[in-house]
Amino acid sequence: MCGIFGYLGPQNNASEMAIDGLKNLEYRGYDSWGVACKNENGDLLLEKHIGKISEADDLRPEILDSINHLAIGHSRWATHGGVTDQNAHPHLSHSGNIALVHNGIVENYVELREELKKDGFEFKSETDTETIVHLIEKYVSEVGFEEGVKKAVKRLEGRYAFLAIHKEEEKMIAARTGSPLIVGVGPLDNEYFLGSDVPAFYKHTKRVMYLDDEQMVIIDNSGIRFFNTKTDEAIEKRVVELTLDIESAEKGKYAHFMLKEIMEQKDTLSRAINQEPELIEGMAQAIEDARGTFLIGCGTAGKVALTGSYLFSRIAKKHVNFTFGSEFASYQDFLTDKTLLLSISQSGETADTLEAIEVAQKKGVKIASIVNVESSTMARISDLVIPIKAGPEKAVASTKATTSQMAILTLLAYACAGKLNEGQQLLAATAGKINDMLNPRYEDHIKALADKIVDVESMYIIGKGLNYPMALEAAIKLQEVSYIHAEGFAGGELKHGPIALITEGVPCIAIVANDETRSDILSNAMEIKARGGYIIGVSPENSEIFDYWIKVPDAGNASPIVNIIPIQILAYHLAIGRENNPDMPRNLAKSVTVK
Ligand code: G6P
Repeated sequence: MCGIFGYLGPQNNASEMAIDGLKNLEYRGYDSWGVACKNENGDLLLEKHIGKISEADDLRPEILDSINHLAIGHSRWATHGGVTDQNAHPHLSHSGNIALVHNGIVENYVELREELKKDGFEFKSETDTETIVHLIEKYVSEVGFEEGVKKAVKRLEGRYAFLAIHKEEEKMIAARTGSPLIVGVGPLDNEYFLGSDVPAFYKHTKRVMYLDDEQMVIIDNSGIRFFNTKTDEAIEKRVVELTLDIESAEKGKYAHFMLKEIMEQKDTLSRAINQEPELIEGMAQAIEDARGTFLIGCGTAGKVALTGSYLFSRIAKKHVNFTFGSEFASYQDFLTDKTLLLSISQSGETADTLEAIEVAQKKGVKIASIVNVESSTMARISDLVIPIKAGPEKAVASTKATTSQMAILTLLAYACAGKLNEGQQLLAATAGKINDMLNPRYEDHIKALADKIVDVESMYIIGKGLNYPMALEAAIKLQEVSYIHAEGFAGGELKHGPIALITEGVPCIAIVANDETRSDILSNAMEIKARGGYIIGVSPENSEIFDYWIKVPDAGNASPIVNIIPIQILAYHLAIGRENNPDMPRNLAKSVTVK
């Protein structure tokens, strides 16, 4: 959610590096973008545009022609204020001396804006961000740039990360509370990058320093200094060397990241389950030891967490509570220092999930997390972490991370039942079945269905038991990239209301696992068919009820993993058929770092 880039160093094409870095952060927001740099005459040059930076190649922004060693950039996902050039970042201070980019929300911006207006500051945008840059300027005139920023930060409420530069200084100053910001170090002497995420600068360096909440960093020609924003105390930091698989972040032969990531599920499941058994056993032990475990996540990760509660119940006979990250705080009265919070996230940066962790930590709760991005805030603040090792997931709609997260939860449930081996064997066999399933003929069969239903207005998906959460996840997948109105239901709930929505020809996906839920869910599908619905069965076995059958391997307790894959493919082809960009759907962002 909004991408931030910064560069200060000996290279003289900082603005070009900013544009390049922002392209790698575009998954965080793509409604507008902007860059500010300081040229050889000491002027601040600013360029901002609505639209995607990846489509801005022919713009040849004038700032690229100048020699610049200091630049900041931003790709925006609008929160406060519409998508306009004015609201795009960077924002300039009243005098034009300070430029600032920001991710997150300043919750007290209304009050600050009123105060600044009274002081004579003019606002050019509708953003909360502009209050930060004017506030900094107000204090800079009193105490200078460094101290001015320190003073301004103390006035901000909410979760944010920002980066500011001043026309008269060779300096970058950044601060964070709640939103991610990482420093990239070198490779040249006195060369530093700042990014919301490592891909911003991974072409240049994989040596990083993490900025934590309530911390700020000042980078200038004399080096790098970190401070606590509350106490102004200096903080020591160490450089961490990252190992990143850069190749897997490219599209390769695929037209879109989404399809590439779907197809990568041939390998990602094996990578997820090939963990040190001690890691799985350790987290399973924490679940065993806990007096109350909560599973949380948001969006797709939330659906995975809900699947987890079914897996623990079914495999380990264990009650594990589920709640969405954004709803977790309502349960805080039940938390004690014996509770375990098991948090699921691809990015490890989702604000609602991180805030749930903060709420839990205040109650002494132990935090375990299942994440993809190992350098993320969530991974760093958790007591126990299992990385899913899915590699970079760039398409906004999660696919390979989803199935890998479910694989880890399945292993954990088996480990809690004292049957880790059995779980490993099941998942290894499932990985093999997925490998066989993901062939061009299979994709063509699903594409043919997509061609048939491409113009529908609504779709419904039903599931039961382990596959009820997959009905919800299927709906999200279809909504996200095809923009078709899609809703997922527990099959049994249909007759209590949703069945009123069924009209002639409406496509309904029935996820029919080969378990004790089969006959019930088939009856529910029949109820839909009797009202004219067009039944798409996702099942290991055909049924006369199905109008269209998508065969999936019989994977036992791993059925949610195999069942969601054809629906991911269907969503992808519906998006293509409807001329949507599946990698960057409207209104969405990959990493949602605002509440
Ligand atoms: C956003 C994305 C979803 C994702 C959710 C949670 O809404 O668009 O695809 O499922 O965030 O993200 P996380 O990184 O925590 O898994």
